[in-house]
Amino acid sequence: MTEVDTPRKATTQRLLESAAMLSYDPALEVDWETPLDTSYHGMSPEWSTLYGTDYWAEMTEDQRKELTRQEAASVASTGIWFEMILQQMVLRDFYAKDPTDPAFQWALTEIADECRHSIMFARGAEKLRAPAYRPQRHVVELGRAFKAIATGEAAYAAILVAEEVLDVMQRDSMRDERVVPFVRTINNIHVVEESRHMKFAREETKQRLMGAGRARREANAIAVAITSYFIVTSMINREVYQYAGLDSERAIREAKANEHHRSMLRSSCAGLMDFLDSCGLLTKAALRFYRRASLI
Ligand SMILES: [Fe+2]
Ligand SMILES: [Fe+2]
Repeated sequence: MTEVDTPRKATTQRLLESAAMLSYDPALEVDWETPLDTSYHGMSPEWSTLYGTDYWAEMTEDQRKELTRQEAASVASTGIWFEMILQQMVLRDFYAKDPTDPAFQWALTEIADECRHSIMFARGAEKLRAPAYRPQRHVVELGRAFKAIATGEAAYAAILVAEEVLDVMQRDSMRDERVVPFVRTINNIHVVEESRHMKFAREETKQRLMGAGRARREANAIAVAITSYFIVTSMINREVYQYAGLDSERAIREAKANEHHRSMLRSSCAGLMDFLDSCGLLTKAALRFYRRASLI
């Protein structure tokens, strides 16, 4: 065992113990039976892409609730898309490695978590009466390439960004009494289990960067930033407005110009940006993409 491996073993051992103590089976924990109560929001309204716009002010309360329910379903669907990418990257990363290593067992535990999450998100979106929201075609294809080739710090930093962005939205919604109870349970399960994943992703990102030269750091910083840009901009599918019965063109226009939404994203990602900076992944070139995605 090398010096580097010892703390990693201890960390993953703790994660395994924590998972054994507190993990959920969404099939049993989430109330799938009660019919959808449309008097609730799907996410904290402050997270809606239209919150604070003129359009929002004109909408009825029912329209706002339908919109946040469609937006929550879209976030869940994008979550499924990224969890499939992530499961494949982690599985590839641990291919034929030492199964007695706690990190190996942790990696499989994380994949099992994500598998349950994706089923949970799929059922949740269905219950919210949403169609299949998928990222745009070119983003789906970029994801296909990324999940096939990304390794080391690029894979784990991208995983971290996706998990952190989802985490902040879900933390607000899980505590929010305006949000439909079954969605709050889904968010709660996800927040608890993802906190372990984020710890692992941070550790792996730092580990893999040890001894990385400048060129590799620069290249991976850009790869992570571009991936983050596509993840964040795919969170809310453009079709949500149409399914919420809104004027799609106007909604897209006002959502694009919504400074409130951008500031929500920025303030929630401050800790993440500090972490990337501390790893040397917030390079000049990377910053351009984080700014475009309103993460900084
Ligand atoms: Fe997850
Ligand atoms: Fe995760």
